[in-house]
Amino acid sequence: MSQIKLLPPDVDIETKRVLRQLARSHRALAELKGLSETMPNKNVLLNAITINEAKDSSEIENIITTHDELFKAMSLLNYHSPAAKEVVNYRRALWYGYERVKSKQLLTTNMITEIQEIIEKNRAGIRKLPGTVLKNEATGEVIYTPPAGEKEILSLMGNLEEYINNDYDLVDPLVKLAVIHYQFEVIHPFYDGNGRTGRIINVLYLVLKELLDSPILYLSKYIIRNKRAYYQLLQDVHVNRNLEKWILYMLEGIEQTAEETIVLVRSINSVVEETADNIKDTLPKIYSKELIDLLFYEFYTKIEYIKTGLNVTRKTASVYLSLLEEAGFLTSQKIGKEKIYLNQRLFKVVQKAGLEK
Ligand SMILES: Nc1ncnc2c1ncn2[C@@H]1O[C@H](COP(=O)(O)OP(=O)(O)OP(=O)(O)O)[C@@H](O)[C@H]1O
Ligand SMILES: [Mg+2]
Repeated sequence: MSQIKLLPPDVDIETKRVLRQLARSHRALAELKGLSETMPNKNVLLNAITINEAKDSSEIENIITTHDELFKAMSLLNYHSPAAKEVVNYRRALWYGYERVKSKQLLTTNMITEIQEIIEKNRAGIRKLPGTVLKNEATGEVIYTPPAGEKEILSLMGNLEEYINNDYDLVDPLVKLAVIHYQFEVIHPFYDGNGRTGRIINVLYLVLKELLDSPILYLSKYIIRNKRAYYQLLQDVHVNRNLEKWILYMLEGIEQTAEETIVLVRSINSVVEETADNIKDTLPKIYSKELIDLLFYEFYTKIEYIKTGLNVTRKTASVYLSLLEEAGFLTSQKIGKEKIYLNQRLFKVVQKAGLEK
């Protein structure tokens, strides 16, 4: 028998302090949801925000990469940077999970396992062998031993799945998010990647509960910034059943992150509008809304994307990109045989947001 308690928690989790913070977290989240719904081009926002999340979340696991490397890894199939590839996989897992949750309106153990497989690029699945322990990074001391045995883990995951998908307890979803994250991390169902998978579950849960319609609120940066508290509080729930402090930590994270994301959404919005106006003025002959969408789809573009996106010849696409480069909107880089065009303005906005820790 594991010492993990089944859900729902047997203590009052909606305390007065929790309720007070909950109001603030909901307010910030609702503002972000409203703002994101008015975005003319949602892909821009999603692409820009998910890249920072993938980068931040992978950094907790010590996979350090730069934005510069990332956009190269995203743009080239044969780009060799293991760190950047890890981050690109994380982002792929995030998207995959989002699409599954959207279409099924459920978040199941199977989906969670698939997400972890994409992150880790292996099919080890739920832990079968004993021996996984959590250690204090500095001292090597074992601080927590998760349950062992596939059967036991699957049964705990079944209990968690029920809690995620059925609101039999009528507890606020943001409070539940904190409980779910804790429970997932103590079950620790996989050999590796439990932290990253758990962080993806957080945002998918917000989408599942319709608190966001696209996956744009990521707590990873907040967790890196407050990593010591994060580990301590998880341990504190475990040892002392101190759920209130843990829930408050997560709720504060939601509030802070929503506020920061609102700022980022606004700056992305204005860089798109400003660039559109400038291109309209300086290169009216090639301006179109579709062109702007393509330029902001990712940090970079290629002749191929413009050709397909605008349904023009390769030659025309190439002329467009050269004109945009001459006018200073893009900078090209030759990587291997390919030429990619970086949208410097967007890149700077996203990079700046990612660097502020
Ligand atoms: N004392 C603890 N009790 C329960 N869970 C913990 C504890 N300490 C850490 N964790 C969780 O374990 C995760 C690390 O597990 P694992 O190495 O499988 O995940 P990862 O994705 O590879 O790593 P990371 O989270 O560092 O990116 C942490 O992110 C945290 O969520
Ligand atoms: Mg790990």
